[in-house]
Amino acid sequence: MVNPYLEGNFAPVLEERSEDHELEVTGALPPDLDGRLLRNGPNPVATPADPADYHWFSGDGMLHAISLAGGKATGYRNRWVRTRALAGKVSTVRPSGPMEPIDGPANTHVIRHAGTTLALCESGFPHAVSPDLSRARVHDFDAALSSPMTAHPKVDPVSGELVFFGTDPFGPPFLRYHVVDATGELTRTVELEVPRATMMHDFAVTATQAIFLDQPVIFDLALAAQGRALPYRWDAQAGSRIGVLPRQGSAADVRWITMDPSYVFHVLNAFDDPGPDGSDRIVLDVLRYDRVFDTAPGDPIASCLPALFRWTIDPLARTVDETQRDDTPMEFPRIDPAVAGQAYRYGYCTRLGDDPAQPSMPGLVKIDLARDEVVRFDPGEGRACSEPVFVRATDGTGEDEGWVLSVVHDAATDRSDLVVLDATSFAGPPVATVHLPARVPFGFHGSWVATNS
Ligand SMILES: [Fe+2]
Repeated sequence: MVNPYLEGNFAPVLEERSEDHELEVTGALPPDLDGRLLRNGPNPVATPADPADYHWFSGDGMLHAISLAGGKATGYRNRWVRTRALAGKVSTVRPSGPMEPIDGPANTHVIRHAGTTLALCESGFPHAVSPDLSRARVHDFDAALSSPMTAHPKVDPVSGELVFFGTDPFGPPFLRYHVVDATGELTRTVELEVPRATMMHDFAVTATQAIFLDQPVIFDLALAAQGRALPYRWDAQAGSRIGVLPRQGSAADVRWITMDPSYVFHVLNAFDDPGPDGSDRIVLDVLRYDRVFDTAPGDPIASCLPALFRWTIDPLARTVDETQRDDTPMEFPRIDPAVAGQAYRYGYCTRLGDDPAQPSMPGLVKIDLARDEVVRFDPGEGRACSEPVFVRATDGTGEDEGWVLSVVHDAATDRSDLVVLDATSFAGPPVATVHLPARVPFGFHGSWVATNS
């Protein structure tokens, strides 16, 4: 096998489809699911020149939209994100001129905020996407954004603000913190001083703090000069630090706390948790790897598997306490958006296969932090899951009273389904399965976008 990320359901689909008609459903779709599940993932438009060097993180972004309304599945469509890079006009990896926005592959996440749908990837600027997914343009918040944007912004459920950061390997500054208000206007940028560009994939936001993960995966100019698809490498000597910035603070207020090297792609959630002595503790629940990017190009990105850890940070004492909460290999963590940044109980993840050399996603898990329990959903033999997206039921009052949506690939038919689980009966069976007319390749992240948003 030349590259596992070009094989099986990692392989790209080559057709853009517009299935604007009712799709077959098994079971009963909850009628309160009225909107679209949008998904994003890498789908290289052409076979990479050197398949062995192709990296899963670098393929051109493709969006998938599954429409639900009135207890029916009303359509499916998929489109490449129309970046200028896709049209061959600009490089995906370097600015074409001073302050020119970098496109990047726009392949990691898709969100909707302040009436705009944004395709996101940390190596480039956001792309605003048209409702039919057929058009896209660089979105730089009226020229207020001057460097790439993370694919993992956080929406404050109280203020409606979109809080995010961006890293710029061509800095300094290598790191910026930004706030976009509920109307979509970029109102605040704080430039943060870090010694080098590292791969910061995600971060955390509580009601009062923003937390940055400066971990030892470093941008390597020599690898970039070689034309490597992803010029990053593990360097334990670079050390690990957590940066804590009060959300209303300035660059002078950030506190950096050193900790043992490890790597976190994704944070499940974080919240302020004042200690009994009144100290300003912060809790971060993360999926922690011992190390990543310690493998050959084309190989899985890590030689180990991630597990759920709780990091309790004391910013004044500058300490981080690490406690493993579960040993199930899992990734792509999601929560109910209503509890983002707040004390919470439940999380949902993709369960990973036990062999890091054979990347697979054979199920889903629901994490119950109050009971210290992990419940599994098994999609059946030969079926593989994607990131679970939680949608609170219209009449749901409890934190897990809602639906979990995951696109599931069936190896026997080489087609995909949208599986809808009742989160309160997570082990299944699904309440509904929408049979899609095509295969949806394994991707990264997505969002439920209600029709009225
Ligand atoms: Fe991610």
